[in-house]
Amino acid sequence: MPTMYLTNAVQQLGTESAFKVLAKAKQLESQGKDIVHLEIGQPDFPTPENICAVGKQAIDDGFTSYGPTCGHPDFRDIIAEHISRTRGIDVKGSQVVVTPGAKPVVFYAILSVVEPGDEVVYPDPGFPVYKSLIDYIGGKGVPLPLAEKNDFSFEIDELEARVNDKTKLLFLNSPQNPTGGILKKDDLEAIAAICDKHDVLILADEIYSELIYDDDFQSVTQFEGAKDRTVLLDGFSKTYSMTGWRLGYGVFPEWMVESVELLMVNSNSCTASFSQRAGIEALTGPQDSVAQMLQAFRNRRDFFIEGLNKIPGISCRVPKGAFYAFANVSDIPLHSKELEGRLLDEAGVACLAGDGFGEFGQGFLRFSYANSIENIGEALDRIERFLSKL
Ligand SMILES: Cc1ncc(COP(=O)(O)O)c(C=O)c1O
Repeated sequence: MPTMYLTNAVQQLGTESAFKVLAKAKQLESQGKDIVHLEIGQPDFPTPENICAVGKQAIDDGFTSYGPTCGHPDFRDIIAEHISRTRGIDVKGSQVVVTPGAKPVVFYAILSVVEPGDEVVYPDPGFPVYKSLIDYIGGKGVPLPLAEKNDFSFEIDELEARVNDKTKLLFLNSPQNPTGGILKKDDLEAIAAICDKHDVLILADEIYSELIYDDDFQSVTQFEGAKDRTVLLDGFSKTYSMTGWRLGYGVFPEWMVESVELLMVNSNSCTASFSQRAGIEALTGPQDSVAQMLQAFRNRRDFFIEGLNKIPGISCRVPKGAFYAFANVSDIPLHSKELEGRLLDEAGVACLAGDGFGEFGQGFLRFSYANSIENIGEALDRIERFLSKL
C-alpha cells in the first residue's frame, strides 16, 4: 500500500535505535558473524525461578482471561504498599494502573494532559520515546541538556529557564537511560518547588529505581510540591528481569485515573492476568535475586568502565545506576552514528550512538553492560583493535 495513506504524525514517529541495531545484529549473526551485544536495555539474567513458578501455576489456575482494566485489586494494593514504603509517601491501590510494560504509562500520561502546542520539557540525552510521543501528539518538546560535566544532571536554573506559562509537563528519569546518571535529593526538592510554582505536571520515570549502586534512591514524589501533579512510572522489566512478561504500572494523581482507565479500555483492555500473579510474587517473595543481579552489574560496571578509560580516544564517567555506560567518543574522528555502524559491521560490537537519545548525545556511545564479564572483555578488545586501525 502506498504510504500516502499514512498520517503525517505516524510517518514522523521516532523509534528506539536499540531495537533497530538489535535487529541488524541478529541478521549479521544469521549470516555467521559473531556479535557482542551491548545494545539492548534488558538484563541478561532469566526471570527468577520463584516468579516463573507462580506465573506458570497462574496459567494452570485459569488466570488466562480478561481481568479488571486497571489491574487485579490485590495486585494494585500490593504495588501501592510497595511504592508507599519505598518512596515514603501515602499511595492508595486506586491510584495504581497496571499496564503491559511500563511504556504505555508514558503514552497515557501524554494523551491525558498534553494538548497540541503545549510545551513539554524532557531530558536530552534521554529515553527516545518521550520526544517521539510529545511530537506525535503535537506538543512542543523542549530539551533539557544533561551535560557530562554535571555528571549528566542539570542546573536548576537551566530548568527554570525552560519553564513558562505554556509548559504542561516535565519528564524526569533517575537513574537515567542512557547516561546512568542520577538526580540528587536537593535537586529533586528544588524541581518539585519549581513545578508547583509554575503549575507543571511531572512524569517521574523510576523504572531503574532498584538498580542504583552507591546512593539511596530518591523520588521526586516525596516532596510536597510534587503531590497531586506527578505520575510515577515503574515496573518489573528491569528489576526482576521480566521484559517479555510485559508488566509495569503508573501511580497517578486521583484526578487522572479515570482518563487513564478509559485509555486502557480503548487500547489494551487489561494487562495479562498471569503476568500480574507473577508480579505479586516478585514484590512479595524473596528479593535475593535482585541483590545478586545488582552485584553482578556492579562488577561488570567496574570492569567495563576501567577498560573503556584505557582505550585511547574514549573516556567514560562511572554510572551511578541502571546498566548503561555513556562513553565520550568525541576525540574519535567519526560521527557517533558512523561509529555505531562500523563497530557493528567491522568489529562485531553492537552499541548505540548517543544521538539516538537526542541532539546532546552526539559524541557519545551508549553501551548496555548487561552481558557477561567474558563478553564485555571481548568487546573491549574488539573496540580497541578497531580504533587502533583508524
Ligand atoms: C527509561 C525507561 N523507561 C521506560 C522503559 C520501558 O520499560 P518496559 O519494558 O517495562 O515497557 C524503559 C525500557 O527500556 C526505559 O529505559
